Amino acid sequence: MIADILPAWVASAEEFGDVPEETLFPEERPLVERVADRRRREFVTGRHCARRALAGIGVAPVAIPRGERGAPVWPDGVVGSITHCSGYRAAAVGPAEAALAIGIDAEPHEHLPEGVLPRIAAPAEIAALTALRDADDAVCWDAILFSAKESVYKVWFPLTRRWLDFSEAVVDIDPAGGFEARLLVADPAVGTTVLRGRWTVRDGHLATSIALPRG
Ligand SMILES: CC(C)(COP(=O)(O)OP(=O)(O)OC[C@H]1O[C@@H](n2cnc3c(N)ncnc32)[C@H](O)[C@@H]1OP(=O)(O)O)[C@@H](O)C(=O)NCCC(=O)NCCS
Repeated sequence: MIADILPAWVASAEEFGDVPEETLFPEERPLVERVADRRRREFVTGRHCARRALAGIGVAPVAIPRGERGAPVWPDGVVGSITHCSGYRAAAVGPAEAALAIGIDAEPHEHLPEGVLPRIAAPAEIAALTALRDADDAVCWDAILFSAKESVYKVWFPLTRRWLDFSEAVVDIDPAGGFEARLLVADPAVGTTVLRGRWTVRDGHLATSIALPRG
């Protein structure tokens, strides 16, 4: 699913089940020593996907520590992103000479819980969902919007090391499978205020992605 919405120069891997904890590198084990079983499984399989994706760009298996505010620490010369949700885990990586940053996010394909939408979307974004619903009411557009903003943050944070609020990006969804996020704050590390991404829905899950090319 995730490969369908990424450019050819990005390598990715996904899993619909979990792999054994033994696949973790020794230095990663302390990161999940005292967490709930569900969290351990998603972390373990997320790291496994990350190493499979790294293999796709010719990078040997390495530990992927957890960096500032939870962002994964990729080997030198690599940018990437990890996501997991119930029944799905994925990672995407690319060479830093081609990409400034990559952000991916997956969610169950279901509507956001009551009360969440007004906290993550501006009135204009909420109004746009009505038109999308009229075009196709089988897609949970509110969840696509949320996921697109998570992908935006996963591109934004590794570059800027700064928080980005949900109100600081305005997402315009194209029903054909794309989206455009307009950043209301600028940062030289990002180099643009318009991020273009893609979305897809398949077998009960949705995914969004942004691969920000260098230059
Ligand atoms: C960090 C965040 C984006 C993760 O998204 P999520 O949907 O909750 O969870 P996902 O499973 O998709 O992603 C989790 C993975 O994201 C990665 N991640 C965590 N923090 C990160 C950060 N600051 N920057 C980049 N990647 C990060 C990690 O790899 C993590 O998995 P791991 O802990 O097993 O390594 C989210 O929890 C968050 O804090 N959002 C608030 C900020 C935001 O979205 N602003 C909107 C801007 S428009």
